Amino acid sequence: MIKICPKHSIQETLVFDEIGRDKSLSHRAIIFALLADTPTYIHHCLDAQDTLATLHIAHQLGAEMQRQGHTLIITPPTSKCLASDVNLQCHNSGTTMRLYMGLLSGFDGNRFYFDGDSSLQKRPMQRIRDFLEPMGAVFADGSTPLYPPFCLQGSKLSALHHISPISSAQSKSAFILAALQAQGTSFYSEPYKSRDHSERLLLAMGAQIKITQNTGYQLTIHPLRHKLRSLDFEIPNDPSSVFFFIVACLISPKSHCIFTNVLLNPTRIYALSILKQMGANITWHTTSSQIEEIGTIEVRSSTLSATTLNSQIAWCIDEIPALCIAFACANGESIIRNAGELRIKESDRLASIAHNLQALGIQVEEYDDGLKITGGEFQQNAKLQSFGDHRIAMAFSLVGIKTQVWIENTECVNISLPNFYQILEHFVELQ
Ligand code: S3P
Repeated sequence: MIKICPKHSIQETLVFDEIGRDKSLSHRAIIFALLADTPTYIHHCLDAQDTLATLHIAHQLGAEMQRQGHTLIITPPTSKCLASDVNLQCHNSGTTMRLYMGLLSGFDGNRFYFDGDSSLQKRPMQRIRDFLEPMGAVFADGSTPLYPPFCLQGSKLSALHHISPISSAQSKSAFILAALQAQGTSFYSEPYKSRDHSERLLLAMGAQIKITQNTGYQLTIHPLRHKLRSLDFEIPNDPSSVFFFIVACLISPKSHCIFTNVLLNPTRIYALSILKQMGANITWHTTSSQIEEIGTIEVRSSTLSATTLNSQIAWCIDEIPALCIAFACANGESIIRNAGELRIKESDRLASIAHNLQALGIQVEEYDDGLKITGGEFQQNAKLQSFGDHRIAMAFSLVGIKTQVWIENTECVNISLPNFYQILEHFVELQ
């Protein structure tokens, strides 16, 4: 249990060049290295529990790892897969599990035993089985609908035309990785574009993926005829991690923060527009654009007003816990709808947020697919829970900027941002 209290004086202007590198890009750069012809160079790969799970599995699959300063060099295995009948422990990471399911479904004749921690064991994997099975992958020892643990047997895959009912980058990426190994051309569509890092990185590596956007977002994926070109890629700061400190700045008195080298992919920064809509003094601009847009975000303390959020939820799904802290500090009633996906994240985030806001004396109503939050004053000395969920721990730690608060089980921040509390100390006192 840690105690977090308001800081008496905070530095007026703070410049942050280093927050934490992007988790989605780090996972993908590691996994895609397995499909490359020569070593991949990843500069500033995120070093956190989730990405370490992905890295460990790449090693189990035969990749060689070498670190040189801030550079991780991944040499792919020479044969398709050196390990079979292997236990793959994905710990807390849904991205690790779902992307490896897609990749390994095409490793013909190999069996993989997937498992995760108690949180991941509650997360649905049926959405991935729904297309991998028709492509030819075989699932054994798994429940229906599918939850970990389970066994996946790789096969010769056939191409598939799949229409996804949800916009999910993990599902889309799993499909792409399977389709690259299938016989024939596959097609995937989602209702609107989810984060598109897989497409961007794989296109840069020479994969043949055609993107069309009509009413939804569609991909035509051609199978690989040879190995991909390796990447030499620097991972920028993670906008989802930076977002906690953006909200910290907005709700701190007389604060001014500049965040540099942040990933500004349009599918990742929707939450910045929501803050702007709420009256936040926030601007951002792109400074470079190769494979991904990268740039600077500038924020000042602001008076916030309530808003409604009910579409394009995938574009701000990971920022919703911190957005809810901004809603609780805003004037008026904010509403989130169509966000049922939050119930199947690292915790049931709608329930976790509602529980902690109630403990803080904030008026909150929980819907099946959302929340209504009425802005107000936080009650002092509330005891809050992380529910073992890194983003819940980080979001509710921000309350300490306003009033003294206690939080249990905060070690889960190591899942995505191990230095979270060191950075937060610019805004709060920790005890
Ligand atoms: C991620 C996609 C999102 C997001 C998660 C990371 C990714 O999940 O919430 O934290 O890296 O592809 P879904 O694909 O389930 O929406």
